[in-house]
Amino acid sequence: MAKLLKPQDIDTAVTAIKSGDVVAIPTETVYGLAGNAFNPEAVGKIFSSKERPSFDPLIVHVKSSLKSLDSLDKYGVVNKRAMSQAEIELTDALIQRFWPGPLTIILPKSDKIPDLVTSGLTSVGVRMPSHPVTQKFLELCDLPIAAPSANKFGRISPTTANHVEHELGNALTFILDGGPCAIGLESTVIAIGTDPETSGAGVWLVRPGKITSNELEKSTGIAVKMAKNEHEKASPGMLLSHYAPRKTMLSLDDSKTIKALTSKNPVKALKVGLLVPSGDGSPELSSLMDYGIEPMRMILLSTAGDDKEAAHRLFASMRELDDSDAELIITGSVPTNAGLWLAISDRLNRACKH
Ligand code: TXA
Ligand code: MG
Repeated sequence: MAKLLKPQDIDTAVTAIKSGDVVAIPTETVYGLAGNAFNPEAVGKIFSSKERPSFDPLIVHVKSSLKSLDSLDKYGVVNKRAMSQAEIELTDALIQRFWPGPLTIILPKSDKIPDLVTSGLTSVGVRMPSHPVTQKFLELCDLPIAAPSANKFGRISPTTANHVEHELGNALTFILDGGPCAIGLESTVIAIGTDPETSGAGVWLVRPGKITSNELEKSTGIAVKMAKNEHEKASPGMLLSHYAPRKTMLSLDDSKTIKALTSKNPVKALKVGLLVPSGDGSPELSSLMDYGIEPMRMILLSTAGDDKEAAHRLFASMRELDDSDAELIITGSVPTNAGLWLAISDRLNRACKH
């Protein structure tokens, strides 16, 4: 079992990091598993505790006084010289507008960041979290901190200190408890580069999150592109099944689900848990009833259809169904792709990708 540290015991967490250990930390998005990004041994411990494959790069977290590319370059995180003037201006504007907050920006990496952090890529994801306990922690460590979500690879991200204990308690000494995460979904990840179509600076959306393409476009005046594959800025870690419960999860929208529901060994014999993103669940219930299935448990993420409430409750609800007697989890669809719904739909789709 790991020891839960209260914010007033933050020094214990900082000392552990400085001596090359890993510590679970809160952020406003999800809990992270933190280690000194300059220390390959600490980074190795992050990968081994999570059983994360070495091809999936880590995000580096920085303290809140580093609000410019210049200061990130001096801190040894980013290599500003590898960027064009237009890319530099665009990135500085994004940093000013969205940091600290749930936005990770992929930028050319400094030589001081070990290749293990970035899985051999020449770029590094950088994020400045806004959670006050995380900010204090980063300030006291005064080091760039590599931190993926504090879950076993491919599994549901933790949004409370107890979730971390459940996932990684055996592999950890300390969990810094900063309360439940306000947002509940991982940061938006974007890549900055030169757009071959315009020859100007471009923004690619690598992972949807709280900060939407719409907000990014409004603030930059540049159309955000979708990262499609490894040559078009997609992240190696985003091509896989992710955020998945141990139990099979199916989407009511997927033709595979309909096949399973109508097959010779129908799932109606199984105990089903139903996860409804928005509304009171009546459309989802009636589709299941059409197949003769009555769910044993139903969780409504937001009856009022509020995307922030649904995001905040998503991972905890997936965990609850995973730990319940349900043998199969079925999920309904999101009402729109606006706001946080796109990110919720992204996480649900990946959880269903077994
Ligand atoms: O909200 C968050 O971002 C949380 C908290 C702890 O900060 N962290 C997090 O880290 O979600 P992780 O490792 O679970 O997800 C990071 C994602 C992965 O999909 C990874 O492949 C991608 O970012 N990524 C990191 N560095 C990258 C790079 N240089 N190029 C492309 N993708 C990168
Ligand atoms: Mg993760």
